[in-house]
Amino acid sequence: MSFETKKLILDVLESKGVDNLVGLISTGSGQELPEDLFTVTCEIPYVDLPGMGDANVPGHQGILRVVDGPIGDWAVWTGRRHFYQGYTHDEIGLYIDVSAALGADELICLNAAGGLNPDLVVGQMVSIERYRCFTPLPGLHREIDGGPWRETDSGIREKLLRVAEEQALSLTSGAYAGVPGPTYETASEVDWLRSLGCDVVGMSTVAELIRAAELGIKASAVSVVANVHGSGTKLTHDEVVKSSEAAVIKLARIISKYIAQI
Ligand code: HPA
Repeated sequence: MSFETKKLILDVLESKGVDNLVGLISTGSGQELPEDLFTVTCEIPYVDLPGMGDANVPGHQGILRVVDGPIGDWAVWTGRRHFYQGYTHDEIGLYIDVSAALGADELICLNAAGGLNPDLVVGQMVSIERYRCFTPLPGLHREIDGGPWRETDSGIREKLLRVAEEQALSLTSGAYAGVPGPTYETASEVDWLRSLGCDVVGMSTVAELIRAAELGIKASAVSVVANVHGSGTKLTHDEVVKSSEAAVIKLARIISKYIAQI
């Protein structure tokens, strides 16, 4: 994704008065955060942002919402790109680059994920402590340092756990496996991921957490379990979107409190 594309998007944002951000959120399939929990100051459909118009799969809205917080605005990006759609690392990370250019230094990726840990149930929220990238990142020419596991930001995680507890919402912690998709996992893939210590599996998020690390932005993620492997839950994209929608109010309460607290 070219430097010019980022510049064109920044020009549109500036023309709408969006010139400073403290953080950003990206939502996953079926995660339409109810607006009454947020003070939305600006809404821009992706089609009005040059180069973002196609950042959409069914269940994703494709709208950028700017939300007011006590020390500044947050960008909520409701729609993202995935490796399985054929996008490069730069194209997936474009929304993060744009937000970082406006000063955002905190990213929370929300996603719908499959439960690998048999203790998980559909609708459970999981704060991602660490993640493993099984997805190719086309166009990433830089070396990714560290071992196979990468940690998310502990400060973000602690605050997420605190705001969940304050509202008596159950938020466990776990490890995320980022797979390429687009097919869901076979039973042997599930066994293998479990043997590596992965609690949840999904097709997004890792490229974005890695992009944030490249940009020096603090980042973490919250998964909502949309299906539990081996439990007989039906596994289609429509079912994943439905389960995600059912849990979205709990997720929205955590995120709105997170934004509201300094
Ligand atoms: N696997 C991968 N991605 C997913 C799943 C899953 O089981 N559920 C929701 N997204």
